Amino acid sequence: MADNNLAVIVLAAGQGTRMKSALPKILHPLAGVPIVGHVLATARKLEPAHVVVVVRHERDAVAATVTELMPEAVVVDQDDIAGTGRAVEVAISALPRGFDGDVVVVSGDVPLLNASTLSQLIEAHRAGDAAATILSAFFDDATGYGRIVRASNGYVDRIVEQKDATLAELDITEINSGTYVFRLKELREQLVLVGTDNTQGEKYLTDVVGLLRESGSGVTAVPVSESWIVAGINDRVQLAETARRLNQIIVTGWQLAGVTVRDPRTTWIDLDVTIGEDVELLPGTMLIGPTAIERGAIIGPDTSLDSCEVGEGATVRRTDATLAVIGAGASVGPFAYLRPGTILGADGKIGTFVETKNSKIGVGSKVPHLSYIGDTTIGEHTNIGAGGITANYDDLVKNRTEIGSHVHSGSHNVFVAPVRIGDGAKTGAGTVVRKDVPAGALAITVASQRNMIGWVEANRSGTESAAAAAAANEGTDTA
Ligand code: UD1
Ligand code: MG
Repeated sequence: MADNNLAVIVLAAGQGTRMKSALPKILHPLAGVPIVGHVLATARKLEPAHVVVVVRHERDAVAATVTELMPEAVVVDQDDIAGTGRAVEVAISALPRGFDGDVVVVSGDVPLLNASTLSQLIEAHRAGDAAATILSAFFDDATGYGRIVRASNGYVDRIVEQKDATLAELDITEINSGTYVFRLKELREQLVLVGTDNTQGEKYLTDVVGLLRESGSGVTAVPVSESWIVAGINDRVQLAETARRLNQIIVTGWQLAGVTVRDPRTTWIDLDVTIGEDVELLPGTMLIGPTAIERGAIIGPDTSLDSCEVGEGATVRRTDATLAVIGAGASVGPFAYLRPGTILGADGKIGTFVETKNSKIGVGSKVPHLSYIGDTTIGEHTNIGAGGITANYDDLVKNRTEIGSHVHSGSHNVFVAPVRIGDGAKTGAGTVVRKDVPAGALAITVASQRNMIGWVEANRSGTESAAAAAAANEGTDTA
């Protein structure tokens, strides 16, 4: 149900320098979705009346992604004044005048924070009378985080940043996760008073906490159930750790939904993937983007499928495929490379060391060994002989090859496009098909074989080949 009293502010203006990347930190993908996308998805689940995202660093790229993923979000620019407090201040100014509810503040780089944790935080905030409720966590190593300083009555007195903390304060293990619920009115009143007199010269949001206490308002902190939920991503080590954790959650979800995952540690499944019951995923499988696997299919080992559809009961072994459709009961690999636009019909086969691109291979048709099939349409129940190659590119344009149904091509054929092979036609081994083959015809282009008898003994006398030939021919009339 929509929560008309709720606004969510996503802080996403920071630099992310420790990532050492040309790509803005919060746009790095995690299970196929930009880091900030996970935060936006969580925000959306709360059904708030308003979502405001604060941007500054790489603002155009970040804003474009935010708008694409969440068109209803308002993007606001932070100005030259630095700090989380300033970020929240500019976000608040983007809220409609009439709004006077609760404001949730989250960081754009904390992707595993889930909606149920946030809902509980909001509930706790609304059940009490505190002006602010902080999501805290207990970390064995609290280095880098703001510490929660509690008063003797258990309320939060203030938050002290690592860089501003005394030695005694550094021993505190309860940290500020950077996630809060504020009552807008008090937040607005106190933010105005926050200065920049600290080690970093920034306007800290955390200073609002101490100011609220001084003004007589209550501030509470609720510890999160498990600390990984609030883990932020600052560098690539944390990116990998978070990806591993999220993947574990995703894999477990599919296992409980009826998918056999032989080795969860080497199986990577993006968030947008869908998988049917009784699918089996073998070690080294990566399912990327909006890939959909129908029930009973067997994928892997060592297979990556990006934005692919795999039909019921299909088998895909040691394969790399992108934007391909694999029909029900079809068989792919081992060692197949399916490029975009490959459509394999039901019960069809793309076999070993075969590359395909922009090609439709019909029901029951097979390309079993050592082939390149590009810009081609193959009908039904056709068999392409080993080593069949479509020469689709004449160095100027790409041309199509059309092969009918019930065609049998010989081994090592070249189909020089544009060319058509009619239904039921056959081609001999080694044929270079340059002209259309009518339905039912046999096409052969290779010159008939000449044997020059005795050539080796005459021209290579003294070699082992000549000796072997002589021995083999002894007593036979070779003339
Ligand atoms: C902040 C908290 C700290 C807490 C930690 C949790 C403050 C002053 N400190 O510290 O108590 O333990 O988060 O991770 O808030 N951002 C902006 N504009 C800015 C600066 C930051 O939008 O001017 C955004 C960043 O993009 C990030 C978030 O705010 O998403 C937190 O900023 P960051 O610089 O990581 O704060 P910390 O120093 O980690
Ligand atoms: Mg941080």
